Amino acid sequence: PLATTGELVTRAATARSAVAAFNVITLEHVEAVIAGAESLDTPVVLQVSENAVKFRQGRLHPLARAAVTAAERAAVPVALHLDHVQSDDLLRQAADAGFGSVMYDAAHLPYAENLAATRAAADWAHSQGLWIEAELGEVGGKQGRPPLDAHAPGARTDPAEARAFVTDSGVDALAVAIGSAHAMTERTATLDHDLLKRLATTLDVPLVLHGSSGVRDEELTAAVAGGIAKVNVGTALNVAMTGAIREYLAAHPEAVDPRTYLSAGRDAMVEAARRIIRLLGR
Ligand code: G3H
Ligand code: ZN
Repeated sequence: PLATTGELVTRAATARSAVAAFNVITLEHVEAVIAGAESLDTPVVLQVSENAVKFRQGRLHPLARAAVTAAERAAVPVALHLDHVQSDDLLRQAADAGFGSVMYDAAHLPYAENLAATRAAADWAHSQGLWIEAELGEVGGKQGRPPLDAHAPGARTDPAEARAFVTDSGVDALAVAIGSAHAMTERTATLDHDLLKRLATTLDVPLVLHGSSGVRDEELTAAVAGGIAKVNVGTALNVAMTGAIREYLAAHPEAVDPRTYLSAGRDAMVEAARRIIRLLGR
């Protein structure tokens, strides 16, 4: 059934575990993530990013409708989350399109502008009954943004600043920059667990890890023990899908029916999703 990110994250935070939140681009992503979650009888979050909407010709509804329908029919609770939203126009479509939550991303702006934009987004989201996540200290590697030096000042979230940001913006959860980066195809990120501990004791909202594809199993387990309650994963699904399709087409140069190689891609994503879900636990 359709659930909300708020309830799944609260449940995970209370159990000191984390809910897996997967970025979906195609219908095969949606089917694979739900199949993976069902096979482990574990709730999951499906996320549609602003970049995915751009890929879908700027239209939110086609993928959103498919995701809502799939979530409603799933055997486990499935929440729908609009991810990395920068456009106010897109933000305003969230509730109508069936999303229960949004991540508003103004992390690239200077502090005061990030706060003002995020507070306005939070006010609007709450007026619509939406749960809202925001980001402070930019997690690098976002599409269309120059790469951020992992040691640049903005590449880490400052606990005191984060406390003020959460209080003054009214957001329900915070994405923190602790050493992960988006779009990593190798699992080589090193997380700052001391910083995470300080953030977790300073803040009273659940913390979200972005760029989790680049994080090794033991690092991820430690991050969840340290206070991460939502784990965002995108690239790991794409690595699995594309690798399987590449392999299938190399072995079957005569293939033309997309169902053949898309099945291979989807099966690989089911396994990739299962690995993360199993790691995070129920
Ligand atoms: O918001 C989405 C996540 O941060 C995904 O990051 O593609 O590097 O796993 P990733
Ligand atoms: Zn992200």
